[in-house]
Amino acid sequence: MELVHEPGAFRAACDAARKAGRRVGLVPTMGALHAGHLALVDAAAEAGADFRVVTIFVNPLQFGEGEDLDRYPRTLEADLEACRTRGVDLVFAPAPGAMYPPGFQTHVQVGELTERLEGEHRPGHFQGVTTVVTKLFLLTGPSVAVFGRKDYQQWRIVERMARDLDIPVEVLGHPIVREADGLALSSRNRYLSEDERERALGLARGLHAAAQAWAAGTREAETLVEVARGPIEERVDRIDYVAVVDPETLLPGAGVLQRGLVVVAAHVGATRLIDNHELGVDTPPPVEL
Ligand code: PAF
Repeated sequence: MELVHEPGAFRAACDAARKAGRRVGLVPTMGALHAGHLALVDAAAEAGADFRVVTIFVNPLQFGEGEDLDRYPRTLEADLEACRTRGVDLVFAPAPGAMYPPGFQTHVQVGELTERLEGEHRPGHFQGVTTVVTKLFLLTGPSVAVFGRKDYQQWRIVERMARDLDIPVEVLGHPIVREADGLALSSRNRYLSEDERERALGLARGLHAAAQAWAAGTREAETLVEVARGPIEERVDRIDYVAVVDPETLLPGAGVLQRGLVVVAAHVGATRLIDNHELGVDTPPPVEL
C-alpha cells in the first residue's frame, strides 16, 4: 500500500493506475476509521474497483464555528494499518495547507438538497463537503466512489453534484453498519461516555419503532414521526430534528406515504449524532431490550 501526502503525487499515482488499466474506486473519509468505513472499501471492490483509494482528511471547510474540528479524532497510524489489512492500494492523507493553499477561494454549492435537515442546522457544512469531494474527484478520477448512508443527505447531494457537473463517477451509497445493539457506527461515537452511549441508543430505538409501525401497515407520515420521536426524546438531551422525508428529494413526507426515509439528528451530552432508516427497504436497526 502506498501513502502520499501531496496532491500532485496523489494525482500521479491515480493516473498511473488508470493508465495501467485499473478501475479506480474512491472511499473519501475523515479518518478514525471503523468497520463502517472498511465496509465501503469492500463495496468499492464489489463494484469492480481493482485499485482502491482511501483519502483521510479532516476537512476544515465542513466544520462550523463551535463544532468539533479541533477534537475530531485523528488516528492515522491505526487507520493506515486498517487500510493495509483491507487491501487498500493507495492512501491520500494531505495536510490542510496542501488542499487549501493561501489564496484559495473557490467553492462548490449544490442547491435545494442542501437547504434542509443537516443544511439547516449546520450552515456551510455541505458547501465544505461538496468542495472537498469535487477536489478529491478531480485528483483521483475514480470510476466509482462509495459513501456511507449514515450521512444520507451527503450521499444524495454528492450524487446530485456528480450528475449536475457531469463528473464521470458512479456514486454509491452503502447501507449503515451498526453495532450489535443498534448504534450506528460513527467516528464521533468515541466521544460518548458509557452513560451517553446508552442514551445514544435512543436514535436506533426510535428508528426501530418506526420500522415496526411501517411493517404493521402505518403509512401516515405524522404518525411515523411521532412513533420514532418517542424513544428518542426519552433518552437524548436535545433533538435537532426527527422527520420522515422522501428518500430522493428529501422533502418532508405528508399524509399517506408510498415510501419514506426517517431521519434524526440529536445531541447526547456534547455529541451530535445522526441516523436514518429507509422504511420497508433497510433492515430495521436491532434493539436489545
Ligand atoms: O463523510 C465524511 O467523512 C466526509 O464528509 C467526507 C465525505 C470525507 C468529506 O470530507
